Amino acid sequence: MHYKLGLIGYPVQNSLSPWIHEQFLKKADIGGNYALLEINPKKSFENELQQIKNNHYDGFNVTVPYKKQIIPFLDDLDDGAHAIGAVNTVAWQNGKWVGYNTDGKGYVTALGHAHPSIFQHKQCRILLIGAGGAARGIFYELAEAGFRRIDIANRTQSSAEDIASLGDGKAKTSILTLKEAENNLKMYDLIIQTTNIGMKPNVNDAIISLEQIDRRSIVSDIVYQPIETHFLQQASRIGASVHHGHTMLLYQAQYAFEIWTSKKVPADDLNQPLQSILE
Ligand code: ATR
Repeated sequence: MHYKLGLIGYPVQNSLSPWIHEQFLKKADIGGNYALLEINPKKSFENELQQIKNNHYDGFNVTVPYKKQIIPFLDDLDDGAHAIGAVNTVAWQNGKWVGYNTDGKGYVTALGHAHPSIFQHKQCRILLIGAGGAARGIFYELAEAGFRRIDIANRTQSSAEDIASLGDGKAKTSILTLKEAENNLKMYDLIIQTTNIGMKPNVNDAIISLEQIDRRSIVSDIVYQPIETHFLQQASRIGASVHHGHTMLLYQAQYAFEIWTSKKVPADDLNQPLQSILE
């Protein structure tokens, strides 16, 4: 079997997914390749996607700006992707194009590897900053994993309210302004930054000041370029534990690879090499 895999999005040239999936193919000892399938937003998405479908891919990842846009062109969605309203992984299964979302699962698995103790305290207080697609996936999977108290702070309150209704009320949620979050950081055990603020080239930006955090808390940023975001640097200075964004990238890829090949390859040993590539 030779797996034909790829990534659709724009832009995709700097993606680390080819490197990660080539490592997984080697580990699983299966043949295949992972191509960058850039779709320029000026072109018809439907036509470009149809060409990719016609080329007999076994599966592909989907990134910005197509995670929502692709949904009407798929034959089926798994429950998580349906609830989250976004797809990052597509697989050709039993004659159908099926959409999945492994971003949130990847985040939760990465968190479990780095900070297993937090999984013993499902009543801990979690603050999610941001209410975009990434936040939706993370909220959904944290609620699925049994976490019961997840507050959301976002610039636009209505998007945060939409997220709160995900997870069928499994998690108790308050919606905060960014300022309110900043002033109440002490009560959170885990703070997760899910916006793109602080990403290269704007490396000196941080969505809120972390001055008020409890030093026993865990501070997580899903931005991984740079690895040490300004947000995480603030947390480290205060003495809090930090959780880096590239780990989510790694484990979302592990789930995608398992969907395509039915093989769960270990990803833990790629954590350091991936970090080195990004540093
Ligand atoms: P993704 O799919 O990567 O999560 P997205 O759906 O575009 O990206 O979401 C971006 C998130 O970053 C949102 O929470 C957005 O806040 P709004 O819902 O208010 O738009 C947040 N964001 C982006 N730029 C921001 C800024 N300058 N200040 C505050 N929040 C910002």
